[in-house]
Amino acid sequence: MDVSAIQMIGVIGAGTMGSGIAQVCAANGYQVRLIDVDQAALDRALASIRGSVEKLHSKEKLTDAQRDAALSQIATGLDLTDVGGAQLVIEAVSESLDVKRSVFRRLDELTAPDAILASNTSSISITEIAAATVDASSADEVAALARSMRADLVLNACDPRCNPGVFGELTLMTM
Ligand SMILES: NC(=O)c1ccc[n+]([C@@H]2O[C@H](COP(=O)([O-])OP(=O)(O)OC[C@H]3O[C@@H](n4cnc5c(N)ncnc54)[C@H](O)[C@@H]3O)[C@@H](O)[C@H]2O)c1
Repeated sequence: MDVSAIQMIGVIGAGTMGSGIAQVCAANGYQVRLIDVDQAALDRALASIRGSVEKLHSKEKLTDAQRDAALSQIATGLDLTDVGGAQLVIEAVSESLDVKRSVFRRLDELTAPDAILASNTSSISITEIAAATVDASSADEVAALARSMRADLVLNACDPRCNPGVFGELTLMTM
């Protein structure tokens, strides 16, 4: 996947991490699809993003353009099919192997073969999560693992504690 081809980023899970990741991606000019199973979580995420963006803007840590992008480029939804057209999908659902596997299995079906699937897991092996997406006997397994591991690095660049401006450079370095 050529980094310049990334236009849309899916973020799955709109909790603490997913909302921050969505904010950073949008502030850097990407279209974002933020998905959760809980509408209340999506509503909280948008309110939190709005508050955070306004605060960063008032401290001149976000430009007018970044603030406007962060506030206008995030669409929310309850259905994973909304991220079917994303070139990069970052999973930030609850820390459960079963939940993450079911999300990745579905993402594998929905997204293009060269889409990058990333996990924000803090303690679960990326290999174990990615194993849910592929037939172990298939050559696709290697590609699926590679794209997940590579995207795991990308995720560090998306950490909401990072300077948003660093995101573009780090993604270039890690893909
Ligand atoms: N909070 C942290 O400081 C931190 C730091 C590093 C990594 N992480 C990791 O990031 C991930 C998310 O953590 P968090 O703190 O944001 O969790 P959180 O509980 O704040 O949010 C998780 C969200 O996932 C949603 N969700 C659950 N199942 C789903 C599904 N099948 N499809 C879509 N959405 C679903 C929940 O409704 C919830 O809104 C975890 O893997 C966690 O280990 C968290």
